[in-house]
Amino acid sequence: MSVTTAVQTRRLNGRIGAEILGVDIAAGVSDDVFEQINTALLEHKVIGFRNQHLDPAGQIEFLSRWGAPAKAHPTVPALDGYPEILNVSWEESARANNWHTDVTFVVSPPAITSLHSLEVPPYGGETVIANSAWAYRDLPEPLREFADRLWAVHTNDYDYAQPQFATDISRARHEVFVSKRWEVAHPVVRVHPVTGEKGLFIGGFANKLVGLSDTESRDILRLLQAYVTRPENQVRWRWSADDLVIFDNRITQHYAPDDYFDERRTLHRVTVAGPRPVGLDGERSYVIVGDEASDYTPAVD
Ligand code: SIN
Repeated sequence: MSVTTAVQTRRLNGRIGAEILGVDIAAGVSDDVFEQINTALLEHKVIGFRNQHLDPAGQIEFLSRWGAPAKAHPTVPALDGYPEILNVSWEESARANNWHTDVTFVVSPPAITSLHSLEVPPYGGETVIANSAWAYRDLPEPLREFADRLWAVHTNDYDYAQPQFATDISRARHEVFVSKRWEVAHPVVRVHPVTGEKGLFIGGFANKLVGLSDTESRDILRLLQAYVTRPENQVRWRWSADDLVIFDNRITQHYAPDDYFDERRTLHRVTVAGPRPVGLDGERSYVIVGDEASDYTPAVD
């Protein structure tokens, strides 16, 4: 006889985010508990676990329950010895203080992102995550119908990767980031492959709308993006050491405020490979410049 354990979830706010209580990932997660965790992720878009003493292999193993992990990044080197882990470091990494969905400049961006905290600053350094399904629902109908037909070009050679301060280090980071260049087209309204929900799929790597001028694209993207970043669509995770936060990269954007000066902050990021996004018309994302990035992410579809 198998005993079903009910996983406890505590909503962080009405529209996004839940904390999962009473699960020790390192001690092992049964299939039944995993199903409940996945259901919570699909519903709340972001789930967080406190006090998870995970080593790099443990984080990779847990994330593998959702599917094959992608490599750490298409161009940025991985943590030594762990090709799937991106070391998000206060001193080595560019700070992600730009709203984005991870790696949308490749044709099959990761489905799921996880962050495990190793060192946290005494103040600031939180991660803010926004629900882009609510953003879509919030659009007035004429704007929604307009967005439904749009496609956006995403590239790694855009604002997101521009050095914020012209130092030798930031210039060198930028060169690595754009050492290989991609441009891909994704639907502005993406249909979630599991839940069928519609969400705005734009963010920091989207720089142009297919068929529109640069100026028109900028204005329209800014207008749509304002719905994603409405405060009620956001949750702000205050890190303690050994937290594991997992978010659905298919239907969220995130932002890491750069508000902790030179305080130490280290997270390990592991992502799970995702399928090509699909728009409302059933069309799939396509490559404009570069390749399928198959060295970085295994094919899912
Ligand atoms: C990321 O966007 O990959 C990192 C997020 C963070 O630093 O909180």
